[in-house]
Amino acid sequence: MLTRAIAVSNGKGGVGKTSIAANVAAVAAVSGWQVLVIDLDPQGNLGSDLGYKQLGLSDEGEALAQAIQFERQLVPPAIGVRPNLDAVPAGRATLDLAAVLQQRQINGVSSAAALAAALASIEEDYDLVVFDCPPGDNVLGDLGLAASRGLVVPVRFDSGSLDGLELMAARFSRVKAGGLNPHLELLGIVLFDFPLRATALRSQVEDELRRDFAGGVRVFTTAIRHSQRAAFDMRREGITAAEYELLAETDRSNRLDLLKTNRAALKEAGPALSQAAAGIADDYVALANELLGAFAELPDLDEVTT
Ligand SMILES: Nc1ncnc2c1ncn2[C@@H]1O[C@H](COP(=O)(O)OP(=O)(O)O)[C@@H](O)[C@H]1O
Ligand SMILES: [Mg+2]
Repeated sequence: MLTRAIAVSNGKGGVGKTSIAANVAAVAAVSGWQVLVIDLDPQGNLGSDLGYKQLGLSDEGEALAQAIQFERQLVPPAIGVRPNLDAVPAGRATLDLAAVLQQRQINGVSSAAALAAALASIEEDYDLVVFDCPPGDNVLGDLGLAASRGLVVPVRFDSGSLDGLELMAARFSRVKAGGLNPHLELLGIVLFDFPLRATALRSQVEDELRRDFAGGVRVFTTAIRHSQRAAFDMRREGITAAEYELLAETDRSNRLDLLKTNRAALKEAGPALSQAAAGIADDYVALANELLGAFAELPDLDEVTT
């Protein structure tokens, strides 16, 4: 277990794990923390969100797979994807790694501690490590949960989104009580793609969460608001919410200029960038503050177990 590591996890896909991992890591890096983000999902979406995939800088999970399989120290393959931000990509090799680990598990060999062990020599280089966990309840997710001190669970607001939480709650208890990682602490639930100012809805969700998580659970005050357009553009362009906000501002002032000077060019300029970006960027800053605040409040561990 790494005392400075947080896992963003939920058995369900499409609930905001990757968007939150990328943007919270980016906010922390901008504020001066040394941050390492590690993608544990073979889909490799983290690389799209941070743009290193589009730049051809993803090793498809090769370094991570090698380090874990052969018990070597991990050297992050994507250094400086932003100032203060390094990344460990996932991809095809992560899928192969999962198969190897599954086979080991069938043979009664657990690899749960392998990730923290592979990071031992660089742990001290970072103030924060963020794991973007894959969906499902599987060996790759277990690697992240076993290596983390904090757990963040995003919930998307759609009809089926709360269904998976009972499973997530059960998994968390199992990880903690079953010996995989007794030091894992649930930092809180993030409401993702949630309607703004939906107070009644929030308390309804909180009631359901209290039922699922027996020991109670914090729901972060900051919800990430809905914007399909901004989300689509951000992932395609490989930029964070804060970066998109800057682009959207420039786009807007360019369009205002064109409106005055060259209306024909304005028509050809295509759809405007989403002005919701500013709101989403603010949401991620507020969420990062809450989340890292909760993380800092965790009691110190007298001894660090790996
Ligand atoms: N604020 C938002 N509003 C609506 N959709 C969003 C928002 N942020 C991200 N998305 C989209 O939601 C989908 C799932 O998000 P993602 O972070 O990939 O979830 P997960 O990692 O849990 O699978 C992606 O297609 C992403 O582009
Ligand atoms: Mg994801």
